Amino acid sequence: MTDYPRIYAHRGAPTLAPENTIAAFSKAMEAGATWIEFDVDVIADGSLIVIHDDTLDRTTNGSGRYYGLDYSAIRRLDAGAWFSDTYRFERIPEAADVISFANASHLGMNLEIKPCYGGMELRETLVENLRVAVSQVADPSRLIVSSFDHEALARFHRACPQIALGWLFERHGQPGPTWQEGAADLGCVAVHPSVEGLTRAEVEQIREAGFDCNVWTVNDVDRAIELASWGVTGVFTDRPQDFPAEALTR
Ligand code: G3P
Ligand code: MG
Repeated sequence: MTDYPRIYAHRGAPTLAPENTIAAFSKAMEAGATWIEFDVDVIADGSLIVIHDDTLDRTTNGSGRYYGLDYSAIRRLDAGAWFSDTYRFERIPEAADVISFANASHLGMNLEIKPCYGGMELRETLVENLRVAVSQVADPSRLIVSSFDHEALARFHRACPQIALGWLFERHGQPGPTWQEGAADLGCVAVHPSVEGLTRAEVEQIREAGFDCNVWTVNDVDRAIELASWGVTGVFTDRPQDFPAEALTR
């Protein structure tokens, strides 16, 4: 039997519907995914929104940063027409909407906290409101919270010590401690490296240190199988629809 890593549908199924929308998470579920990944940031009224970029330009008909907006303005934006006409009524969801959808669909979740550029007060609001949002997760044992922003992750950990954490990092030039220096102190259960430049030796080091190793972003099934043979426990993919059911249900 082929050994697969766990498959996380990255921003839903973003080749089938606009990323980080309920449509994209529905498509991932229809493709058989049992875990989703989504990105969370905060806006002026404290609402947690599901969006990858720190500006509205690429994925909506709005523009610029969103940190000064309330959700009443965000919900008027079209977050689907950029992808195709079919999705022109999609909206930027709130984190609570995605959590409700995942609860109802029995999906596990990797919630990624975006490095908020809205200032210190909003960064604190993000973590406080996330504590409230994740309290609605039906099965907290199927929730991982990850971030490139390890300070935000530490703050979240103080607020919610029982939730599993993933130490996200980029290999080139990210300031601050390395995973070897920081992930254990923070109590992370997983390290999340980029697939670019990843070596078998690095995977072995992560696994021998006692962490799960969840790799982003892997869009090729054979590559995912190879990574599993290296000891990788999970991959984030833009193409959950390419994986067989036996891979998606672990
Ligand atoms: O959580 C894995 C992956 O999503 C991290 O990078 O930029 O796609 O959010 P990014
Ligand atoms: Mg992400």
